[in-house]
Amino acid sequence: MKTRVFESHQAEEAAELIRQGKLLAIPTETVYGLGADGLNSKAVAKIFAAKGRPEDNPLILHIADGGWMKWYCRDLPPEAGRLAAAFWPGPLTLIVKRGDRVPDIVTAGLDTVGIRCPDHPVARAVISAAGVPIAAPSANRSGRPSPTTAAHVLEDMDGLIDGLIDGGPCTVGVESTILDLTCVPPRLLRPGGVALEALKEVLGEIVVDDGALRTLGEGETARAPGMKYRHYAPSAPVTVVRGDPDETAAYIALHAGSAAGILCFDEYVWTFDGYKVILFGSKADKHVQARRLFDALRAFDEAGVTEIWAQCPDDAGLGLAIANRLSKAAGFRVVEVPQ
Ligand code: TXA
Ligand code: MG
Repeated sequence: MKTRVFESHQAEEAAELIRQGKLLAIPTETVYGLGADGLNSKAVAKIFAAKGRPEDNPLILHIADGGWMKWYCRDLPPEAGRLAAAFWPGPLTLIVKRGDRVPDIVTAGLDTVGIRCPDHPVARAVISAAGVPIAAPSANRSGRPSPTTAAHVLEDMDGLIDGLIDGGPCTVGVESTILDLTCVPPRLLRPGGVALEALKEVLGEIVVDDGALRTLGEGETARAPGMKYRHYAPSAPVTVVRGDPDETAAYIALHAGSAAGILCFDEYVWTFDGYKVILFGSKADKHVQARRLFDALRAFDEAGVTEIWAQCPDDAGLGLAIANRLSKAAGFRVVEVPQ
């Protein structure tokens, strides 16, 4: 199969692929998604095949406008409307009771469905032109870091999908926050582009699911099935070092082998002379860190380093999502440096 690459102004032409039941990668503000007609089971089945995705891992439905939500769910709680008004379009996925029109394959047989209205003009133009919700996971091969550029998508998916529409680099860089509204109080299943603090301002109490913060043990069930899989992992082993940045830089300098790759805050570049260094952004700038994270993990793979050491921001704001993705890349091998 030849993968056709569309430019951002070709949303209507690209949407034709969705209408034909084919696979189209689309840009969103978080990461690129691998899209298909979310109401067409055969089309959605192709997503699982192309990604090598386990069939028990449900997909998010992407809608062009918050007003579409009611068509694909039932018994919507009042919180859904308040959250949609506050954060859509944007990097928030709401888990709600599934409506009759949503095929089994999208939800992996669950009674709930994830819905998100992305904040990207190209994504919304494609969904509007297709006239159907687009089911889309991140457009990486299963287990690889999520793609934040069209080039990343082609690295993983060239020849496996019908099309890709290039919307430039993603501005958020980590995936959406997933919030389950089918329980009381609502439960955070995956930290992401909308901060937990911002959700609490609208909702009050929110429970943070264990699966969002650590690896689940044998016999434990992940409420977001995708959170149980190893993810984002470069080939070389990753160690994440948490704590005061001065201390974590010193710790890494002491422990890293000579062929190590280092993901460090810009302020510490001088500490790692002679290493393969990738700059994470300034220690205070979590927006930049989020944007660079997945590209950095991919770049270390190409550089052929034997081990990777990463500094890590604190948990406030976007830091929770960044720390979560880094920890997953590290298989939760995390060192806490005493303050
Ligand atoms: O930012 C994003 O969310 C990106 C862009 C493309 O929108 N999408 C994305 O999709 O990250 P994916 O499939 O890579 O991750 C979706 C996560 C998975 O962990 C999946 O298990 C969970 O959402 N999920 C989907 N539907 C669910 C449901 N009904 N209940 C619980 N978890 C669900
Ligand atoms: Mg994914």
